[in-house]
This record gives sequence, structure tokens and C-alpha cells, in this order.
Amino acid sequence: MKNINCTQTKAWHNLKNHFQEIKNIHLKSLFSSDKNRFKKFSIKFGNEMLVDFSKNRITEETVQKLIILAEETDLQDGIKLMFSGAKINYTEDRSVLHIALRNRTNKKILINHCNIMTDINSTLQRMKQFSQLVIDGIWKSYTGESISDIVNIGIGGSDLGPYMVTEALRPYKNHLNMHYVSNVDGTHLNEVLKKINPQKTLFLISSKTFTTDETMTNANSAKKWILHYSKSISSLDKHFIALSTNVDNALKFGVHINNIFPFWEWVGGRFSLWSSVGLSIILSIGFHNFEKFLDGAHAMDNHFYEADFRKNIPILLALISIWYTNFFHSKTEAILPYDQYMHRFPAYFQQANMESNGKSIDRNGKKILYHTSPIIWGEPGTNGQHAFYQLIHQGTQLIPCDFIAPIISHNILGQHHLKLISNFFAQTQTLAFGQTKEEIIKEQKLLKDSNHNIKKILPFQICPGNQPTNSILVRKITPYNLGSLIALYEHKIFVQGYILNIFSFDQWGVEIGKKIAQNIYSSLYYNKNTIHYDSSTQGLINFYKYFA
Ligand code: F6P
Repeated sequence: MKNINCTQTKAWHNLKNHFQEIKNIHLKSLFSSDKNRFKKFSIKFGNEMLVDFSKNRITEETVQKLIILAEETDLQDGIKLMFSGAKINYTEDRSVLHIALRNRTNKKILINHCNIMTDINSTLQRMKQFSQLVIDGIWKSYTGESISDIVNIGIGGSDLGPYMVTEALRPYKNHLNMHYVSNVDGTHLNEVLKKINPQKTLFLISSKTFTTDETMTNANSAKKWILHYSKSISSLDKHFIALSTNVDNALKFGVHINNIFPFWEWVGGRFSLWSSVGLSIILSIGFHNFEKFLDGAHAMDNHFYEADFRKNIPILLALISIWYTNFFHSKTEAILPYDQYMHRFPAYFQQANMESNGKSIDRNGKKILYHTSPIIWGEPGTNGQHAFYQLIHQGTQLIPCDFIAPIISHNILGQHHLKLISNFFAQTQTLAFGQTKEEIIKEQKLLKDSNHNIKKILPFQICPGNQPTNSILVRKITPYNLGSLIALYEHKIFVQGYILNIFSFDQWGVEIGKKIAQNIYSSLYYNKNTIHYDSSTQGLINFYKYFA
């Protein structure tokens, strides 16, 4: 991969100057001076999705300059490298090919001259057959009963992705009850075990490495639980499935070889829901719907690969994000889905963004002097409106927000959806245009409000506006559209990381935490005082030991 310090480019320098010219311009004047603004700054993705980025603090010149930044940092080359299977995960010496998992063509994708599509397609076929047996009730438990409950045990990418998608696609789900256990806090597993019957439960142990402590601890407790009832080691064959790149460890754990669904080192954990890690999704919505989900992602991959930068949705959204993070110095970005089923969407992209681009060393190994990933957060609308939107409307921070909503709801219930979508439109409009003193007075007069305190409270009511938003309207949250939406955000993350000259596909910071926790665990377990702690950690441990 190229190694270009983005801040040293001519484009960056020009953007800095351009920022000085534009930083105080209000969205109001941007809209009033250009009647075609919406047309210019919105893109349709087929007939299913409309991305409106007109309510951003940008002009045509800004977009042009941002695109030059992408060109000067040779983004085109980066995209080609990723799609061609080059080892762009440099520090782990791996390719990054989640796009291959949703390659819906006959096109070969080669790693070391080997077509990886052969293994991908044969694993998909196995998942299809297996899931059909479970859904149809043909797969039997150790007592000969059909399966009613699926428990996915995994953490990070082996949990957040499949959990988010299973929830988002609930309207497509069948009779199987899905559970997700991730936290090593025994409460998580125990609360699920209380609800399920060992004679009707299937555990999916989802772990790329099959070494992650949280997952292995939960998996071992689940194994003990089944054995407690079945009293037979062979019962594990009916109740344990492994989704992993580490077949040896899965076998050692006691999973039958036929119950292991592999994936490959070139699938990053946070991009693994398209691989066998997505088995819980298939069990929940059926293989046919999973294929549509892959189709939707593949369509976005094609768009990302082929579309001109000026019309390329992931690239434009990434550039706009860089514009705010690196020029306006905004620190966070909110993802706000106006769809209750998508309640885990922000959490999923928290990992995807922050684990990928939460870096401070560039591809040259040097300390970075600019911002990389914004902090990602969010909640579904309208709940967020009654919690944190106050700060977005009137606080001191600039918080770019993505508003996502389906046009057609899966639940027709009176005027609920019309109200929800009205809030969606109202929020983006108010965030952009705010409400001035004059507008408030006019409104109060129209309402014939006789409140004599009006003057006193006026300053507190003014909403400055000029808060940027993207609006993503999706016809309906179908498997296809959700696939496209996820792929859109994945590529956005890639573009940001690429231009900001960091490695997006490793996560060394997380690894350090794992090692230290392991050391502390050993010293607590064996009650040894072999580690020299700082006074704070020692004080906390002493207090813990006093009561434990
Ligand atoms: O949290 C760090 C991480 O390595 C993630 O990248 C990954 O999704 C998660 O742990 C789980 O890892 P595994 O799938 O190997 O259990």
C-alpha cells in the first residue's frame, strides 16, 4: 500500500485554506443560494436507497477538493489492492477479502494462485444444508428432540455483527429462538441458560481464533451444562457447532469435525458476519434470505469499485467525515437509525469504526499528528431525541449525524410510522436550519401566547442550527438493503483509514488488554503476589480481596 502523509499533500493544504473561507457559512445560506442543492448533493442507490448529503457544511468546491485529496493519496490504488487480495493487513501479513464472501459472480478471487471462491461456496452449501435440517426439525438433540433455541457464543465481531443483523431482520425470522452470549460476566450466560432446555438447544461457538478467553470460558460452561444433563460426551455432537478459522482448537474443545464451519484468516473479525460467523443469521431467517443479504452487499461492492468518485456513496461519506474530523475537529459521529429493529446498528459500527481506525501510528510507523477515527455512538430514534439530542441542537460540540430510516415499516400500526418518519424529517431540518429569535417571536405571536416571560427565556430557546447530517432513506429494511447498508459503512471505514494513512485491519491495542487481564487473573487465581502493581491497582485489588 502507498504510504502518503495526507497532511503533506497539496490537497490538504488547499482544504485548510478552504476551511477558513467556509467555516462560518450557515447551511441556511448554502441552501438559499442554490436551489439545486438537494439534486447536486444526493445519490440514489438503485431504487432502494437515497443518500442525501446536502445538509452538510460543504460546497461543490469542498467536494472537489476532497476528491483531489482522495486522488492525491491514491485511493484508487488502495481499492484495487483490497479487491485483488493484496496483503493490505500489513502488520498481520494478511489479505482483506470480506468482499469475496459476498462475491455473487463466477469471478475467481485468488490468493497464492488458489481460487478462494471454491472453499467459500462449499462452506455456504454446507451451511445451507445444515441450517435446513435444524429449521425443518430434522436435526435431533441427544434425546431425539428438534431444536428450538440457538445460542451464539462469541464476542466482538463474532457477536456484534450476527446479533445486529438477526435483530434488524426479525420480520424475516422463523420459529427458532435466538440468543447471543458475549460477556464473560456469568450473568450473561446464566440468564440465557435459565430460559432454555438442554434437550432442545444448539450452541454455536463463534470465534475466529478459538482462543478468546471470554468465548472459551462461556463455551466451557455451556459444555458443562449440557454434560450435566446428558451425562454423555457423545451428546456434544448434537449440541455444539464451531465457526472458526482454528479447526484444531475446535476439535480439541470437542466439536465434531462435521460440525465445524470454517472461515479464513483473510476475514477480519469485525467483518466476519458474511462468513460462517453468519450461521446464526441463516438459522434465524433462512438461507434464501441470507443469499439476498449477500446480494445487497455485493451490489454495494460493485458500486464502490466502479462508480466515479463524485458519485461514489462510501467515498463521499468518508470524505465528508474526514472534513469534519480533520478540519472542523469534531470528535464524534452519531449513527441514528429510525428503525427499532436496527437498535444494535450503532454498536456494531462502533467496533467496525473504532477498532479499525482508532490508531495513532501511520503506515510509516510514525506517530500521527492529526485525528483518525471519530468516536461512534448512537441510539434508535425517537428515543435519542428524548435523551441526548438536546446537546446536538444546543450544545457546544459539532456532531455530524447519520439519520437512517425505512420508508416502509414492517409494522403497520395506526399512524406510528408516519409519526416516526415525521420526526426523522423534523430533526434533520431543525439541526440544519435551527430557529432564530425572530422565528420564535413570530411563532409565539401566531399562537397568541400571552407568556410575559417570553423575553426572559428567548435566549435559551434559540437553536443555532448549522449541525450537519446525512439522511439515508431506505425503501424497506430487507435482507438485500441491510446488506447494502452494512457494506456502505464498511467501505466508508476503509476509505477513511486509507486516506489517513493508517492500517485499518489490525487491533493491537485490544491485544494488550487481553494479555494483562490474563496475568492478573493468574495471580488472583493462585493468590500469588508476584506482580508489582501501581498503588491504585494494588489498592483496588486489596479492597476486592477483602470481600471476595
Ligand atoms: O476485540 C478484539 C477482537 O480480536 C476482535 O477483533 C474480534 O472480533 C474479537 O476479538 C473476537 O475474536 P475471536 O473471533 O477470535 O474470538
